[in-house]
Amino acid sequence: MENPFKYAGIVTGPYFADREQEISELLSEMRNLGRVFLVSPRRYGKTCLIFNLRDKLKKEGYHPIYLDLNAYPDLASFSVALTERVSRALESSTDKLAKLISTLKYLRPKVEVAPDGSLTAGVEMSVPRQQALPALLEGLHYSERLAIKKGRKLIVAVDEFSDLEKYDGQTIEKAIRSEIQTHTHIGYVFSGSAQGVMLAITQDPQRAFYRMGRIMELGAIDRDAYQNFIITWFKKGGYQLKNVDFEFLFDAAEDVPYSIQRMCNVLWEKARSSRTITQEMVEALPLIVARQDSAHFELIWQTASQTQKILLMALAKERNAKPFSRQFQLTYGIGPSSSIKASLESLVKKGILYQTPAGRYRFSDTFMRYWILGLAQDD
Ligand SMILES: Nc1ncnc2c1ncn2[C@@H]1O[C@H](COP(=O)(O)OP(=O)(O)OP(=O)(O)O)[C@@H](O)[C@H]1O
Ligand SMILES: [Mg+2]
Repeated sequence: MENPFKYAGIVTGPYFADREQEISELLSEMRNLGRVFLVSPRRYGKTCLIFNLRDKLKKEGYHPIYLDLNAYPDLASFSVALTERVSRALESSTDKLAKLISTLKYLRPKVEVAPDGSLTAGVEMSVPRQQALPALLEGLHYSERLAIKKGRKLIVAVDEFSDLEKYDGQTIEKAIRSEIQTHTHIGYVFSGSAQGVMLAITQDPQRAFYRMGRIMELGAIDRDAYQNFIITWFKKGGYQLKNVDFEFLFDAAEDVPYSIQRMCNVLWEKARSSRTITQEMVEALPLIVARQDSAHFELIWQTASQTQKILLMALAKERNAKPFSRQFQLTYGIGPSSSIKASLESLVKKGILYQTPAGRYRFSDTFMRYWILGLAQDD
């Protein structure tokens, strides 16, 4: 039997744990063609959630499309992709598509030269860079018109939405808002992981997306539900669990679904031949996974400054450490606060640490903490 604990890419169907509440809330928002901003730290499962939602929406007769802003280096390519996806979702006839596209002003069909030298306008489009914004607005407007014309309901999910800032943000935000707030046949999900940025985009009264939709902060998966999912799979695989307490696993993973999946995946393999799982095996998991990724952590470690190394080591040992306290600075022999602040900020910027709403610094990748603790053990 294949390992049911997937830890990379899109995980759907029976391999996707829980999130029933979130899916049902998103479904009801989309049935009303609402606008939702989906926010969480990295690897909490936003992208997977959108894909699982998509399967459900399709069954209910909606036409969902998905775009990842990461994939589009400039606004022009995003405008083209959006318009092409919407067109394909709503119109299957290539002839009709070509006709539709020919009515657009900024999004021009790419002209193809056939082997005999004749020219044909295909359904692929291109936009000159200077016209990217009008093209995007045209694409959005066209999507709504096409949805109305076809009597269909469209759901547009834009992932990594916080990347919008890379296109030179705020004029774009205003323009997008004024266009999509008139839409009556399209529901939108905007999803992003750079929490600070997502919240700034949506919660700052000065910004265009303020109060434009519901903000849904994706939290951890309920431990009982996740534990049921894990146990059910192990039982299906014929594994025996010997007084295993999964709380250890959830604590070690800090409830990040990716990290839970990673450890369960290893556990499945480690016990593949014995088909028996003990608490000892579970407790060995964080370090096993950390060592699998050691090349990556090694590189981070080598490029860290001395102060950063001390901070990382201290944060690995004491999860709730207060780096700005006198006590901390005396214990670890670093300071002053200004240099600690600069070091921490740089680690956050590099994505190695993140700051919790309560102001604590945590490892973005929980396994890095175990890798560092492992270093201390090796010494
Ligand atoms: N509900 C779930 N059930 C099983 N696995 C999950 C679940 N949610 C997330 N995962 C696991 O976590 C991994 C990361 O999920 P995903 O890519 O959806 O997170 P994300 O929030 O979009 O992350 P990022 O912010 O980095 O884009 C997935 O590849 C999958 O292995
Ligand atoms: Mg994602």
